Amino acid sequence: MGTQVGWSASVVALMLMLVGAGRAVQDGASTPSRTDVPKTRGDCQTCHPNEARDWAESRHAAAWESETFAQTSRNRTLKMCLPCHAPEPILLKGFGEHPALRDQERTHGIDCISCHQDANGAYHGTLGTKTDAHATVKNEQFGTVDMCATCHEIFGTVDWYKQSEWGKDPNGCVNCHMPVVERPIATGDGLPARKARIHKFEGATPEMFQKGVKMSHERRDDHLQIKLESVWVGHTVPTGPEYVVVIVEARFLQGESEVGKHQTLLADNTAIDGNDTRLKPGERRVIRAPIPDGATEAIVRVLHKRNRDLPDEQARVLYEAKVGL
Ligand code: HEC
Ligand code: HEC
Ligand code: HEC
Ligand code: HEC
Ligand code: HEC
Repeated sequence: MGTQVGWSASVVALMLMLVGAGRAVQDGASTPSRTDVPKTRGDCQTCHPNEARDWAESRHAAAWESETFAQTSRNRTLKMCLPCHAPEPILLKGFGEHPALRDQERTHGIDCISCHQDANGAYHGTLGTKTDAHATVKNEQFGTVDMCATCHEIFGTVDWYKQSEWGKDPNGCVNCHMPVVERPIATGDGLPARKARIHKFEGATPEMFQKGVKMSHERRDDHLQIKLESVWVGHTVPTGPEYVVVIVEARFLQGESEVGKHQTLLADNTAIDGNDTRLKPGERRVIRAPIPDGATEAIVRVLHKRNRDLPDEQARVLYEAKVGL
């Protein structure tokens, strides 16, 4: 066994390797420093470390390496599945056209170059900055729903968006998923703070879910009543391919032991039994879970699975609360 110092040094080395391979590393606890900036294709991180750190935590960075993507695409051999998960720059074909699959460094998933680079090697944005480092193009379409729709329209997310109360905002997706911060957008002396956007693309996280869906629960006679209200989600919960599901669960306890469990599936089952039980934008849903005899307490949880075949233990917990009965 190594010393404490040796051990942490090798953990850091391992993390750097993982980051170098383009994986999303959940590393909220440590303070960012120059040494933990993940490498991106095109070395953007040397001048744009904030965007690079944020992006490395995002699902876009994980789009190719994702375990659940591998499971559902026959280990990444189903040709029709691959392009959006490791695309050529979308500006090559233009917004609204499915991108082509790229040959190189697919492990980086949807990266800086995929979104920003055009056929001339210039980087598009809306800010109109000029730099010697590379060519930039001011593109008013950048960051619009039409840009995100290039890939996200396929699962109906954009159709639902257009029917929602946010549907008229041309920048609706980024206004919820890329919050604005004032900061310099590149390293270098004398660069001003600008209107920058966080690149974590947070979606199915506890923070986002709890901002988007108001939860409440109380005993009503022999039932536990669980209420969900979609207050700040511009599409269904969940959204995405039919593999992605959300489960609202109540586990009933008597002391330490479980005396019953009730689960409600929020999923697009149109192809299975004609039902779509996802929570619609603005919808209020009431779930009534019968309380088993002797139960003294309930644990209410909301689980998110990127592949419905995963066991509950591998689901992401978006919400959890204890209710005395
Ligand atoms: C050598 C440093 C350097 C590198 C490497 C670099 N950039 Fe930049 N970039 C800058 C500077 C400097 C600015 C302008 C900053 C300012 O004026 O506030 C900028 C601006 C931008 C903008 C803003 C465009 C706008 O005006 O809206 C985008 C987008 C961008 N870079 C993307 C990238 C991408 C993607 C990469 C990697 C493929 C990259 N950059 C690599 C230095 C760099
Ligand atoms: C090149 C295709 C493509 C483009 C363009 C694109 N996305 Fe994505 N996005 C994906 C894919 C693929 C995933 C799923 C990644 C995974 O989990 O494997 C995803 C996942 C997400 C997630 C989900 C995070 C989660 O927790 O599951 C959010 C939020 C998101 N994208 C927002 C956006 C926004 C906003 C835009 C427009 C600025 C955008 N995306 C543009 C392909 C794209
Ligand atoms: C899914 C698409 C997507 C990916 C991937 C992506 N960006 Fe962006 N980027 C955007 C959007 C959208 C904006 C904001 C446009 C607007 O509203 O001004 C933006 C803005 C920027 C800006 C302008 C300043 C700021 O921070 O908002 C820079 C610089 C930038 N991106 C660099 C990068 C770098 C570096 C990477 C990779 C580490 C990257 N982007 C990955 C979509 C993307
Ligand atoms: C009013 C805010 C809001 C708007 C507008 C919005 N979203 Fe979301 N989005 C959320 C919230 C909150 C969540 C987390 C709840 C959830 O898991 O669905 C989310 C989740 C997601 C997810 C992960 C879904 C899942 O279930 O795994 C994706 C992908 C996504 N959004 C893409 C988009 C795209 C693309 C647009 C634009 C067409 C968009 N969002 C517009 C608030 C918004
Ligand atoms: C047109 C672009 C596109 C194509 C083609 C595509 N996907 Fe995706 N995929 C996405 C987007 C966008 C998301 C994010 C959806 C969300 O969370 O709302 C996603 C998310 C997923 C997810 C959930 C996230 C994860 O990593 O587990 C799985 C699984 C998935 N796709 C599998 C597939 C399979 C299998 C195919 C082929 C049958 C496929 N995709 C084809 C764009 C695409």
